[in-house]
Amino acid sequence: MARLLLLLLLAVSLVTAEDAFIGVNIGTALSDMPDPTQVVALLRAQQIRHVRLYDADRAMLLALANTGIRVTVSVPNDQLLGVGQSNATAANWVARNVVAHVPATNITAIAVGSEVLTTLPNAAPVLVSALKFIHSALVASNLDNQIKVSTPHSSSIILDSFPPSQAFFNHSWNPVMVPLLKFLQSTGSYLMLNVYPYYDYMQSNGVIPLDYALFRPLPPNKEAVDANTLLHYTNVFDAIVDAAYFSMADLNITNVPIVVTESGWPSKGDNNEPDATLDNANSYNSNLIRHVLNNTGTPKHSGVPVSTYIYELYNEDLSPGPLSEKNWGLFDANGIPVYILHLTGSGMVLANDTTNQTYCIARDSADPKMVQAALDWACGPGKVDCSPLLQGQPCYEPDTVNAHATYAFNAYYHQMEMASGTCYFNGVATITTTDPSHGSCIFLGSGGKNGTINGTLLAPSSNSTASGSPSRILYGSFTTSILLSVVLLWSVLLL
Ligand SMILES: *[C@@H]1O[C@H](CO)[C@@H](O)[C@H](O)[C@H]1NC(C)=O
Ligand SMILES: *[C@@H]1O[C@H](CO)[C@@H](O)[C@H](O)[C@H]1NC(C)=O
Ligand SMILES: *[C@@H]1O[C@H](CO)[C@@H](O)[C@H](O)[C@H]1NC(C)=O
Ligand SMILES: *[C@@H]1O[C@H](CO)[C@@H](O)[C@H](O)[C@H]1NC(C)=O
Ligand SMILES: *[C@@H]1O[C@H](CO)[C@@H](O)[C@H](O)[C@H]1NC(C)=O
Ligand SMILES: *[C@@H]1O[C@H](CO)[C@@H](O)[C@H](O)[C@H]1NC(C)=O
Ligand SMILES: *[C@@H]1O[C@H](CO)[C@@H](O)[C@H](O)[C@H]1NC(C)=O
Ligand SMILES: *[C@@H]1O[C@H](CO)[C@@H](O)[C@H](O)[C@H]1NC(C)=O
Ligand SMILES: *[C@@H]1O[C@H](CO)[C@@H](O)[C@H](O)[C@H]1NC(C)=O
Ligand SMILES: *[C@@H]1O[C@H](CO)[C@@H](O)[C@H](O)[C@H]1NC(C)=O
Repeated sequence: MARLLLLLLLAVSLVTAEDAFIGVNIGTALSDMPDPTQVVALLRAQQIRHVRLYDADRAMLLALANTGIRVTVSVPNDQLLGVGQSNATAANWVARNVVAHVPATNITAIAVGSEVLTTLPNAAPVLVSALKFIHSALVASNLDNQIKVSTPHSSSIILDSFPPSQAFFNHSWNPVMVPLLKFLQSTGSYLMLNVYPYYDYMQSNGVIPLDYALFRPLPPNKEAVDANTLLHYTNVFDAIVDAAYFSMADLNITNVPIVVTESGWPSKGDNNEPDATLDNANSYNSNLIRHVLNNTGTPKHSGVPVSTYIYELYNEDLSPGPLSEKNWGLFDANGIPVYILHLTGSGMVLANDTTNQTYCIARDSADPKMVQAALDWACGPGKVDCSPLLQGQPCYEPDTVNAHATYAFNAYYHQMEMASGTCYFNGVATITTTDPSHGSCIFLGSGGKNGTINGTLLAPSSNSTASGSPSRILYGSFTTSILLSVVLLWSVLLL
């Protein structure tokens, strides 16, 4: 009974929160990092209203002034020891990096350190002090109501996270986690959690089905069920977030909300990272955004918003490590989308749902032979009506392979309803937001919706030399045995 009451209270206290939002992390390890005004121009064009910085860069904070964009700033790990050991250093940090910028720049949170327990355990003993010192400096400036203080955790501090009801924080960290959670509770802050189903999937050795990681629908009888709570899980993201709720409950903390400070999927990887693909990244992020903005909540806390920052705005070519590390971004350094999210109907984020205004063009730098092969494929097996390219027709000029290929690639891409992976052509094609129409040569998708879309939504054959590389989603195509093993695994753990 007491437990029921507790749950009820919890439900009430969490439900009063606002709608969930989608934000974006801005990493800066790019060899040609756009300057702050360019970054802000991209954010505005895409109607991105929440960002997290990994520091408190002055020029960036100035550029974000008077934009209405909500900003989470960070105390970088290399400043954590100083801040955590000295109240004066913390007060200084807040004066210089926060007080100097508000209210023009709408700083709404300070992330103190990043995955400190797992990446910088030596600083763990001062972590809670650092949060408290930063917080008291905010109190002194009367900013503590509008600016929350927390610290992002790796979800790897959660042990036994499947099934979620069995999860707990690695108890070695209790001396930090207990006072930390009490601090978050008493200051009305939230748990910051980095959630990477990509890594859970990669490390599961096939136990976690790809569809389950990508939020793709599972047949009801194949959903993972937590035998302890009978809650049905349809995706890994929810399972991890619920594991965090249960881990907090394990420490008797039941009213601290969760904000996911990082989540995403890489669009490219090394040979041993076969699931880091454009299609998977697009599916993951598109589905994640829809899921979050729907205020669906998680099975444990249905309807309780879980605001989430996508990792990340730009591909960071200078990131060390495997190829995937450089390819988590939604955009390249020029602000060109790496892929076009499928967000139709999800409202006002990554705006205009760029879906309607994108074109597929041949890359300037591409090998002409490969472009020619792809052009031949598009006008042949690809079923593009290439008659406008004939002599005397509107798109004949300029009579170059690239210009003709651009017309054909774009027509194919639009015929395929801009499905992800349909602007690839063995890498010689790329997506742009600039309408390539010229003179009387009107490209498909450019308002003059001439689309000779013949309903040929079948994937081109994979044996073609220049397929659009479509990997149509075969919903529920994973084998029953894999899913069963997930369920079985959970059941075994519960025995
Ligand atoms: C979105 O639409 C607005 C106005 O409708 C326009 O100014 C802006 O450039 C568009 N953004 C993109 C990325 O197309
Ligand atoms: C700053 O962000 C907060 C939280 O979203 C919001 O309530 C407030 O109105 C914003 N302030 C300004 C000046 O935009
Ligand atoms: C830290 O400094 C703030 C002022 O910035 C002060 O209000 C607070 O009492 C100090 N806290 C400690 C633990 O010294
Ligand atoms: C728990 O944390 C401690 C301290 O970092 C670490 O040594 C240990 O390996 C962790 N346990 C597990 C199961 O990850
Ligand atoms: C949580 O509460 C239970 C029951 O009140 C108690 O036995 C347990 O020690 C508490 N755990 C922590 C970490 O405070
Ligand atoms: C949106 O939320 C409703 C319930 O609030 C749910 O039925 C629906 O499946 C959700 N849609 C998505 C895409 O999550
Ligand atoms: C964008 O495309 C969607 C479906 O593809 C359509 O419903 C919507 O009206 C289009 N928006 C514009 C502005 O053309
Ligand atoms: C678009 O359609 C109109 C009439 O249906 C036709 O005259 C025109 O040539 C078409 N344009 C292209 C580029 O196919
Ligand atoms: C499009 O469909 C029409 C009638 O359904 C058919 O006659 C035509 O050949 C098709 N065109 C292509 C390129 O498949
Ligand atoms: C290529 O695929 C098409 C359609 O799937 C098939 O008819 C054809 O035989 C295949 N060609 C080769 C060489 O495999």
